[in-house]
Amino acid sequence: MNYRHAFHAGNFADVLKHFVLVETLARLATKDAALGFLDTHAGRGLYPLDDIAMQRGGEFRTGILPVLAAAAPPAALERYIALVRRIGGGDGALGAYPGSPLIAVELLRAQDRAAFCELEPLEAAALRAELRGERRAAVHERDGYEALGALVPLPEKRGLVLIDPPYEDPLEFDRLARTVVQTHRRWPTGVYAIWYPVTRDGGAARFLAQMQASGVRRQLVAELMLRRPDSPVGLNGAGMLLINPPFRLAETLREGTQWLASLLAPGEGRARVEVLVGE
Ligand SMILES: C[S@@+](CC[C@H](N)C(=O)[O-])C[C@H]1O[C@@H](n2cnc3c(N)ncnc32)[C@H](O)[C@@H]1O
Repeated sequence: MNYRHAFHAGNFADVLKHFVLVETLARLATKDAALGFLDTHAGRGLYPLDDIAMQRGGEFRTGILPVLAAAAPPAALERYIALVRRIGGGDGALGAYPGSPLIAVELLRAQDRAAFCELEPLEAAALRAELRGERRAAVHERDGYEALGALVPLPEKRGLVLIDPPYEDPLEFDRLARTVVQTHRRWPTGVYAIWYPVTRDGGAARFLAQMQASGVRRQLVAELMLRRPDSPVGLNGAGMLLINPPFRLAETLREGTQWLASLLAPGEGRARVEVLVGE
């Protein structure tokens, strides 16, 4: 496994993913009943901007930094932006970009619980250190797909599963689709958020077609494209597939992603928030 998220943290794809994560969790947390959160590919939790890999990758410079510098972001993005500043802040300039575990923990209440899976030992150790003293969270150094079989349905009976694999393996999309459908069969009322890359190979379109034909109801897609999907550049866009999205999430995602597309790729950028499968 070569993937290190520090080369990419805070890029446009992280902005999309974490904006969707924040808005989904915040809506789920409006009901008093306890929530569970499972992050199958959690990463290290916090990415200081002066880290060597962060500096070398530098992708935050064309992702989170222009978002924070923008004069008038829309209301849809306010909660996400405030949270990034609160965790990664310092006075004024951003010191670190938060990963999904720290973002989630910030939104959880006393009655909620989170489980984080990370296969890479150094990343898992770093995450444990970030979450030291956090009694609502458990870090598991284990395969996230296997964890879905062991930990879902979540004991709280309501909650969110975030699936955010590195897509290094050409068969990742197949494993993902198979596992999501199996997991959904065991826990059909859970909320699922799945991040995917859009590159020229067409893997994302095949994955979405597979999910559309799977029999799983209530699926929503939120995509942020910086370039045409067939551009040879590499990561042309990114998407989040949501299963059982909270009520009225789509409107907020539409407002936020349209603004992000015009900010991060003026002229060429596109956003799409669409129901993939209805009720
Ligand atoms: C895209 S990064 C996660 C980023 C994180 N979810 C966030 O939003 O901040 C993917 C992570 O999955 C880890 N990983 C790779 N294969 C895994 C597996 N089979 N199970 C669990 N973690 C895995 C990698 O080490 C990497 O830290």
